[in-house]
Amino acid sequence: MNEKSANKPMIICISSGKGGVGKTSFTVNMAAALTKQNKKVLLIDGDLGLANVDVVLGINVRHNMRETIEEGKDPASILVEVEPGFHVLPASSGVPEMANLSYEEQIFLTNTLEGIIDRFDYVLIDTAAGIGDSVLWFNNWAKTNIVVLSPDPTSMTDAYALMKVLNTRYDRKEFHLMVNSAATKKEGQSVFDNMRMVLENFLKITPSQLGIMPHDSHVAKAIRTQKPFFITFPDSRASKAIAQIATTITQMN
Ligand SMILES: Nc1ncnc2c1ncn2[C@@H]1O[C@H](COP(=O)(O)OP(=O)(O)OP(=O)(O)O)[C@@H](O)[C@H]1O
Ligand SMILES: [Mg+2]
Repeated sequence: MNEKSANKPMIICISSGKGGVGKTSFTVNMAAALTKQNKKVLLIDGDLGLANVDVVLGINVRHNMRETIEEGKDPASILVEVEPGFHVLPASSGVPEMANLSYEEQIFLTNTLEGIIDRFDYVLIDTAAGIGDSVLWFNNWAKTNIVVLSPDPTSMTDAYALMKVLNTRYDRKEFHLMVNSAATKKEGQSVFDNMRMVLENFLKITPSQLGIMPHDSHVAKAIRTQKPFFITFPDSRASKAIAQIATTITQMN
């Protein structure tokens, strides 16, 4: 493998353990922000049981990953172009058996995904809530793991459960923590500091602080318009935070 293919694309998995903390909002807007920086972005909807990237982006999905996994459909033919440079690999919604992948399906998925990602600079994976097989699989496939936290105390216990499994079972040691929906910078910082202390004490790992996203009503408003807030409300506090985190991400590699 030459140096270029070793570094490109950067595969980033976004998870949280707890549901509803803002994984999908963050991922969709990060994809929009990286696209604006002229990066080629593939957003994989890794929420195989309850896909909703298509709804948040208002795109029309005719085929999805279930057809790739179950019927061998070429994943390149199911990609949806959101705008030039920004593609989505859609998942299926409401197909419960897709939520857990068999070993054969995992091998097949690895091979097929690796066949389509070369043309992108960034692959962002929006995963499901929880720590089910597909969540662990996507996290282990990715090179970079972002864990989204919220100020809700249960977010910390669920995120810890996720990182503990990834660390003990798959030896993952590097986690980039993103605190979402912080009322103030101070609150966001204390959520990060608490999580860091727990990880250092119990798993002996030190996470990196990716960023803090403020609670911002534009996030929910944008979901109703089915467009990223980064596009619809570029001057919002949430968009400014996304821009800053996008810069941090582009400086990682
Ligand atoms: N920074 C924010 N400020 C205000 N509201 C937010 C923020 N981030 C997310 N939300 C709201 O929280 C809700 C859940 O967000 P989202 O769907 O992105 O979470 P999720 O982690 O992907 O959920 P799930 O686990 O169900 O996939 C949405 O209604 C969204 O508008
Ligand atoms: Mg989601």
